[in-house]
Amino acid sequence: MGKDVIVACDFSSKAQVLAFLDRFPERKPFVKIGMELYYAEGPAIVQEIKARGHKIFLDLKLHDIPNTVKKTMAVLSRLDVDICNLHAAGTAAMMRAALEGLTRPDGSRPMLIAVTQLTSTDQAAMEQELLIHAPMEEVVMHYAQNAKQAGLDGVVCSPLEAGRVHAACGRDFITVTPGVRFADGDNGDQKRVMTPAAAKAIGSDYIVVGRPITAAADPVSAYARCVAEFCD
Ligand code: C5P
Repeated sequence: MGKDVIVACDFSSKAQVLAFLDRFPERKPFVKIGMELYYAEGPAIVQEIKARGHKIFLDLKLHDIPNTVKKTMAVLSRLDVDICNLHAAGTAAMMRAALEGLTRPDGSRPMLIAVTQLTSTDQAAMEQELLIHAPMEEVVMHYAQNAKQAGLDGVVCSPLEAGRVHAACGRDFITVTPGVRFADGDNGDQKRVMTPAAAKAIGSDYIVVGRPITAAADPVSAYARCVAEFCD
């Protein structure tokens, strides 16, 4: 499994995302399509970006009853993306159903990864609103192990957690890590950040980078800098 930089294409229209991707004539970035773009443009935007030669992480974070997730994953599987995801909080039964739905008649399927606890949820919210009283780190590792036991391929987590996830779930269990910033960059609303080079050193398999590339004056060189620090 190759290390790669996934560019979070958090745009709200086809025109914006295609204008952005048009700037990359050579190496085609691995693209993350999230809820905003998918709900704005529908499955056609996935097909169009795929047809342009990009790998795709479809970040829709499914969380529903197992039967609904299974049927939805079967539909998403037809889009032939590279990575799909869901919330580990949906339980092992939901994760197993998702894998069943995602698997095509020939046995192939996109990789499936789980969100553990969102980085926007802190210990206080978890305890007071969700009535989960274990420490955040223990909850994240437990959810990662649930995902591993359900047969998933990995988790989305902070790069700060990637080393411990690998220690708990094995080196082949992939870690996809947002919260990446250049050493001389602006952190924006990300609180716990790491540079691409540090994420590589700690063992992240894929980094997800949005604004440091999409909002850069020169997105192509910002992407090249990420690739040089993380992949090379
Ligand atoms: O612009 P930035 O680099 O912060 O973008 C990070 C991307 O990763 C965004 O699409 C954000 O929604 C996503 N993400 C995150 N933290 C998580 C899960 C996803 O930042 N825990």
